Amino acid sequence: MSRGILILYKSKTGFTKRYAEMIAAETGGTAMDVKKVSPDALSSFDPVLFGSRMHAGRIDGFGEARKLLQNNGVSLSALFVTGAMPNTETQTITEMWKNNLTEEELSDLPHFYMQGGLCYEKMGIFDRLMMKVFLFMMKQKKGKSPNEDRFAEIIAHSYDISSRDYIRPLVDCLRGK
Ligand SMILES: Cc1cc2nc3c(=O)[nH]c(=O)nc-3n(C[C@H](O)[C@H](O)[C@H](O)COP(=O)(O)O)c2cc1C
Repeated sequence: MSRGILILYKSKTGFTKRYAEMIAAETGGTAMDVKKVSPDALSSFDPVLFGSRMHAGRIDGFGEARKLLQNNGVSLSALFVTGAMPNTETQTITEMWKNNLTEEELSDLPHFYMQGGLCYEKMGIFDRLMMKVFLFMMKQKKGKSPNEDRFAEIIAHSYDISSRDYIRPLVDCLRGK
């Protein structure tokens, strides 16, 4: 018998983990770090979801998660991704899906973006360095739009724009609404 919904996540600074736990609380499912999942656990849950963060335009760990599920004969039922950009950046988000998902996944795998934020305090040294370089390049860029100027200011510090509201589309999808 299935043990219910499994929400696998990869999370470095906590946003994705928090969303995974919110989804679990809302659906009676189980949130689990993808690093800790055993083959036995994988095959005893249905459906299985995966969540991770955006990382320089890539969905961090999605390739590995795909392989893990395939190797264990498990199909992914939904994907969610957290990031620093707000949900309103629809064009960038659409591009991100196109760049990270296969044609088949784009049409058949329900996928959801949930705005998170940035947490410098919990970031690893490599990520901090990447953010420093990115910020430097943003500052150097000539002819920035007012939006880009504001964005460069915002991402220089930690912020949290996550909310329980953003799990709703995924939860509704799971409930077949
Ligand atoms: C080096 C680096 C690159 C990032 N690249 C992106 C990005 O391309 N798009 C985005 O929206 N957020 C980006 N982010 C922000 C993270 O995706 C965001 O903080 C996410 O919610 C972190 O999830 P976690 O707390 O579960 O690790 C980046 C963060 C870091 C540190």
